[in-house]
Amino acid sequence: MLIIKDISHLKLYLKAYQEKGYSIGYVPTMGALHQGHGKLLKQSQNDNQKTVMSIFVNEKQFNKKEDFDKYPRNKGRDYDFCESHNVDVIFEPSSEEIYPDDKPILKNKYFQNILCDRFRPGHFDGVTTVLNEFFSIVHANKVYFGQKDYQQLKIVEKFIEEKFSNLKIISIPTERQEEGIAYSSRNENLSKKQLQEFIDFHNSVIQFTKSFDKKIQIKEANTLAKNFITNLVDQEFDYFEFRNANSLEIEGDISDARLFYAIYKGQTRLIDNIEL
Ligand code: PAF
Repeated sequence: MLIIKDISHLKLYLKAYQEKGYSIGYVPTMGALHQGHGKLLKQSQNDNQKTVMSIFVNEKQFNKKEDFDKYPRNKGRDYDFCESHNVDVIFEPSSEEIYPDDKPILKNKYFQNILCDRFRPGHFDGVTTVLNEFFSIVHANKVYFGQKDYQQLKIVEKFIEEKFSNLKIISIPTERQEEGIAYSSRNENLSKKQLQEFIDFHNSVIQFTKSFDKKIQIKEANTLAKNFITNLVDQEFDYFEFRNANSLEIEGDISDARLFYAIYKGQTRLIDNIEL
């Protein structure tokens, strides 16, 4: 397994394979790797002859400095994870290389002012900016995103359609722990008690989604959702609502909707979405 730290070396390494017509798969990450990332890797390895994984904690997508500082980092464990998952190359550039002076921030144009964009202003500008850099460097054939960060996935789909039409985006269903919650780097920041509370919360949400007729309108379902979440004592949340899975609008019936939530356990913000 290679660990490449600078852009020119990565380009040189990949060029040799690109010239031979190899298909390159790309898995962008911020490290703190878990089985969710493992699933993306596995699909990429299945679809391509070479797989690149980037590890880069992108400061520009954190709207709060404390959140960036607290983001879990564990290089040794990430390297072991990649080794055991047969990653061909880890690309781990410095911030200086990705963001030389005066690099402009791209403004995200899609799915604005709803869900995470509403509560984390600038977050998707940072995501789009960093992916613009990485996509231009790696020149992959396919890139892999998980459905857990669903709004990110939808935004990146649009961004790729607009700017990187040769790149194919592959969306991978959320990998879940036995207890039902999604694998997430942020779970590492939870105490044992918070983790159990989160598992209990998630399972009660699943029961809630099973408790009513699937033909009702999203608007009606959102009234039920609001009652559900506000009746939970002391559960802080940013949003808890159904939206159409394609348009992310509150329109139509819930047969093609997902339930989206962002809640807090202590300082840790946890997001998920549930397919009905
Ligand atoms: O989903 C993530 O881990 C990040 O938002 C991404 C796509 C690697 C961009 O920094």
